[in-house]
Parts: sequence; structure tokens; C-alpha cells
Amino acid sequence: MTARTEISAILRDPAALAGKTLRADGWVKSARNSGQVGFIDLNDGSCFASLQVLLLSESLPNYADVLKLGTGSSVSVTGVLTPSPGGGQLYELRAEAVSVYAASPPDYPLQKKRHSLEFLRGLPHLRARANVFAAVFRIRSLLTFAVHRFFQERGFVCAHTPVITTNDSEGAGEMFRVTTLDPGRVPLNADGGADFGADFFGREASLTVSGQLEAEALAHAFGKVYTFGPAFRAENSNTARHAAEFWMVEPEIAFADLADGMALAEDLVKFLARDVLTSAAAEIAFLDRFAANGLVARLESLARADFARLTYTEAVALLEKENAAFRYKARWGADLQTEHERFLTEKIFRGPVFVTDYPREIKAFYMRANDDGQTVAAMDLLVPGIGELVGGSQREERAAVLSARLAELGMPAENYAWYLDLRRYGGTPHTGFGLGFERAVMLMTGMANIRDVLPFPRTAGSAGPRSEDS
Ligand code: 4AD
Ligand code: MG
Repeated sequence: MTARTEISAILRDPAALAGKTLRADGWVKSARNSGQVGFIDLNDGSCFASLQVLLLSESLPNYADVLKLGTGSSVSVTGVLTPSPGGGQLYELRAEAVSVYAASPPDYPLQKKRHSLEFLRGLPHLRARANVFAAVFRIRSLLTFAVHRFFQERGFVCAHTPVITTNDSEGAGEMFRVTTLDPGRVPLNADGGADFGADFFGREASLTVSGQLEAEALAHAFGKVYTFGPAFRAENSNTARHAAEFWMVEPEIAFADLADGMALAEDLVKFLARDVLTSAAAEIAFLDRFAANGLVARLESLARADFARLTYTEAVALLEKENAAFRYKARWGADLQTEHERFLTEKIFRGPVFVTDYPREIKAFYMRANDDGQTVAAMDLLVPGIGELVGGSQREERAAVLSARLAELGMPAENYAWYLDLRRYGGTPHTGFGLGFERAVMLMTGMANIRDVLPFPRTAGSAGPRSEDS
């Protein structure tokens, strides 16, 4: 039996393989015929493009059966690679034998016609076979690799930080508890609360919301580290930009300030935009044509853009002039709403913009206090179509200031003793940020809903379809 050749290898340099007998295995994207001649578009997932298979009734014994195969059937085709007279492809595989792994019956939900994203969302186990999702999820894979390349080329050490944790690093209380206690028979302590001393870890534990605090520890050994892992947030916000389980890229650098962090974030985002334009050229071109018109031009301008920088105080002054247009009025001291963020990046700056130096009351405990006593050295990167893509800060490296802030917020010092050690033993001015990976994939693909860039999204009220739904 002829050894299998992947379709990507055939299409990469078909002229070199012309005249050879090849075997291609894959799924039928579509089949059509005009009497004695038939065609199959065969896709094996090795690349975005499909291979055209030519079927001739005179030379293919099971010609009629093959043409009855439904979209989605899996087949093995052996034939000779031949120049193709038709338009659309330079070569086609002239079939000499077609065997069937599994036929796909007519109720296969992904027929050749275009389906809505909402319809496909109900079929997470099948939708990666639809062109849009084949493009988006491959781009997600290429972006994953690009993130690692970006940091590895710059000498960063990749750190795997724990998924199970005992600290709430953002202090926002949006954590999923991890427990082996029986919910029907939770042991109680003297004051009637749950006795987590009897739990698996001997104390309360949760899924991490961010690997930052551990990344800070490792940055004080390696100087420059990054994490790239899952984060979990029990935010009950049912928006197109929030998932309960998402991935975050968190670099952390010692001997660096807020401006260094912003420069790194700007370089990273531009690097990713440049990267997909070449590494995912076929997928990006498809999305530009069918799902996100103008994507190529937007990515090209993103790769060249100079990201604007302004302070929160300046941003609020600009937004207050537009308050008539907002549902939530902008005012100093309140967090920026998505409508404010998008107005800044889409209407005022028309491009990516860093907002810095937010009021200390609305930001996490670890951010470095500015001399004004009101603000902290925070930065958010806002981008068109999405709003917040990156959140970061310079960290409070002064042990006394940090201890006072923990006390002020009523956060138990004993839980953060190790974190204070990082300041007591060779502390440094250091800085870092978190890039929401799904939001980056949205930006790079033009997809408008986070549920469409996660292969199996988990959002409030939805931890995957029930078997009766799918
Ligand atoms: O701004 P956030 O909350 O920052 C942190 O977690 C810091 N510890 C990061 C750091 O400094 N190392 O989250 C960072 C980014 C956000 O800008 C956003 O892009 C993304 O993570 N993000 C989410 N993405 C999807 N769904 C959610 N529920 C998200 N919450 C945050
Ligand atoms: Mg944030």
C-alpha cells in the first residue's frame, strides 16, 4: 500500500510530485459530478486548503458509490498527481482507488452552505471542521508558538505557575474554589463556617486568577520570565469578552519600570500582528474575505502603529466632554467602562492606546504607589474592537509601603509573608503585565465573540454543551 502523503506536503510543491502515485487521506469537503467525471475537495487538516480529487467513471470501479459520499466522510485516495485543466488549482489527484473509512450520513450538520457562528457554537465538537473555525483555531496555535518565540528570542525564561493556589492575586474575590469536601456534608468549625482544615489541602484553595505573584518570585531568580497558562474567573459578566476559563501571557521583569513594561507590551502585540500575516497568510486571507472584512489592512496598520500613551486623569478629562453619549458617566475615581475604553481607542485615538496611573482605590494591592498619593503605576492597553487587551503595572517593591497597603485592605499578612520576602531579600523595581490571549486572538482574527476563539469555551452558565444538546 502506498504510504500516505499529507495534503500540505502535496500542495507545498506539487510540481515536484507531478506524475507520482500518491495516497491522500482526508475528509470530503464537497463532492460534485457531471456525468462521467466527478470531483471531491479533500481536506486532511494539515493545511487550510483542500486537494482536488478527480474521479473518472471509466477508471474507478466504485465511482458511483464514491460520489454518493456525504460531506464529512473520511476516505483514502490513491492516484496520480496531474496538472489540472480547471480553474482554481494547478494540480489534482486523479483517483485510481478510493476506499472509505467512514461515510457521513446526510444528517451531518455541517453541510457545504455557510452556517452562522451562533449555530456552529452549538456544535463545539464539530465546528473546527468549518472553514472559519479551522482558520481561527489554527491561528490560535500559530499565535501560541509566536508568543513563545517572542519571549524565548529575548532571553525570557518560561515559567509554569500553579493552577491551584491559596492566594487571590487580584484581590477581586472572583475565584473558583477547589475542594474535595462533600457539598452535602461539609465539616463545620466552631463558628459554624466550613472547616477547610479538613479539606484536601488543609486550607481554602482555588483556581488561579493570574500567575503573577509566582512570576514575580521567579523574576527575582531569572530576571525576565513569562507565564502562558490558564486563568479562571468566576466573573458573572456575560459579555463577548469574558470567559470563565481563559489563557493569559504574563511577563515579569526585574530592574524595570512601567515604561519598560509598556514598551514590551507594544513590541509583543506588533510582533504577533506581523507574525500572523505571514505564518497564517491563507487563514487571514480567508477571514478577511468571508468573516472580517479589512482584516489584512487592520493587521498591517497595527504592526506599524505608534501606540498612544496618556494618563487616566487625562483620559477622564477627554471622556467627560463626551458624557452625554455614555450610559455610565465618566468621572475621576470610577473605573473605565468598556464603552469608555472603546471610545478612547476607536474614536479619539483611532488605534491602540495605553492608559496609565489609575486611582489606587480601583486597582490591585500590588501596584506601586505614585508620589501623588492618589494613583498607582498601572497601565491598561486598549485596542479597537475589544477595549482592554493588556493590564499591568510596576509592582510595589517597598516592603513597608506594601505591608501598609495589605493592612489597609484587611488582607492577612501571613498569607503574603513569602511575597514580602521578595522585597526583603534583594527586592528590585520590577514590572509586568498580563495579555489576555483570547482577546489577542480576537484582535488578530477579527472575531467579535470570545466564544469563537476558544475551541471549547467556558463562560458563566455554560461549561460545555450537555450531551442532549449536541
Ligand atoms: O487586568 P488583569 O486582571 O490583570 C492581571 O490579572 C494581572 N495579574 C496581570 C499582570 O500584571 N501580570 O488581566 C489581564 C488581562 C486583561 O487585560 C484581559 O485581556 C484578560 O487578562 N482577562 C480576561 N480575558 C478573558 N476573560 C476574562 N474573564 C478575563 N479577565 C481578564
Ligand atoms: Mg485589568
